[in-house]
Amino acid sequence: MQPRDTPPTEPTTTPAAGPTGAPRTADAAYDVLVVGGGVIGLVTAWQAARRGLATAVADPAPGGGAAQVAAGMLAAVTELHYGEEALLALNLAAAERYPAFAAELAEASGQDIGYRRCGALSVALDADDRAQLRELHGFQQRLGLSAQWLSGSECRRLEPMLAPGVRGGLRVDGDHQTDPRLLTAALVTACERAGVAFHRSLAVRLRIAGAGAGADERAAGAELADGTRIAAGQTVLAAGSRSGGLVGVPEAVRPPVRPVKGQVLRLRMPGAGTPFLSRTVRAVVRGSSVYLVPRESGELVVGATSEELGWDTTVTAGGVYELLRDAHELLPGLTELPLVETGAGLRPGSPDNAPLLGPTALAGLHLATGHYRNGVLLTPVTGDALAAVLTGGELPEVARPFAATRFGTTHQRHEGRHA
Ligand code: GLY
Repeated sequence: MQPRDTPPTEPTTTPAAGPTGAPRTADAAYDVLVVGGGVIGLVTAWQAARRGLATAVADPAPGGGAAQVAAGMLAAVTELHYGEEALLALNLAAAERYPAFAAELAEASGQDIGYRRCGALSVALDADDRAQLRELHGFQQRLGLSAQWLSGSECRRLEPMLAPGVRGGLRVDGDHQTDPRLLTAALVTACERAGVAFHRSLAVRLRIAGAGAGADERAAGAELADGTRIAAGQTVLAAGSRSGGLVGVPEAVRPPVRPVKGQVLRLRMPGAGTPFLSRTVRAVVRGSSVYLVPRESGELVVGATSEELGWDTTVTAGGVYELLRDAHELLPGLTELPLVETGAGLRPGSPDNAPLLGPTALAGLHLATGHYRNGVLLTPVTGDALAAVLTGGELPEVARPFAATRFGTTHQRHEGRHA
């Protein structure tokens, strides 16, 4: 991804002709248009198409987005944060749904998504970290979650490459991983096989039907940067951190999402016969969180910074240094490994760190965004929730606390913003 100062959602002009110069007279029409082809948009489109809805995705590069950078931890328990108890229920439901989802997607796409029941270990490196981790353990126990306290030597018996200074840790056997790049590729194939149409162009404006008729107003599709005008009975905004930037979306239903930058490294572990790390290991080192996710392929993902810098996706020397410094404290042998990739992605942050799902107050417009740290984990339940509402049902119970309308947005007409 290239650094940007502003989200790329507002072109200065909307061409009246297509890429070949032919006039754009024929609009495409669908039951559902999904704006955004990252994992959340793709799973929404796949599930809608599976249910018989004529579905399209608008994205210049479907399969891109934050999942190309993400580590793919399915860490409902080890990534639990104070104050996020409501989100925990959704995260746990997602973790439970994952094995069946992985099997369904493998069946539909013929591709494996790297779902691996590896477990996780959160460790402490000094007395302060240890006290903090003990507190977290108490919180997890009060919530009925399964996590086992281990001494430093028990941690090292489990993961022999850990630093001798590890003072204790929490073993969580229920937190697993998937490979987000494989997940994305499988979703693209599943969408293609289910008949989803891909419009490889940026959605630049929401179309609104019935403007001037007050309560009759509804979302009616979108205009794309290549001039295509897509008509759709239902439109889903699933463009990650950029979901708030689509022109024509009335202010009252605009999703309150913002980009939260994460820098991530990829290293290569030694080949078979020299086990390096078998499960996800994480820690808070002097206040900053670091995690290491080992894949069966030999890839070791080290993440992640958390930076509120707008649309910037620059990989910085400081970001790489801090990640390597903290990872090295956990796993000293790591500095011998080849560093094969650095990257930065944008998490779609929301006011309460939880997703916005389902219908908005504007008829025909749905949201599937704001997944923040949990997009890969929440992919299956987001697909299920959006499929339910797109086929005329209600949000499933577990998703109801995350209704798109919960920030008090009431649709009011805003003259001049509509297409
Ligand atoms: N869930 C990992 C991250 O957001 O960095």
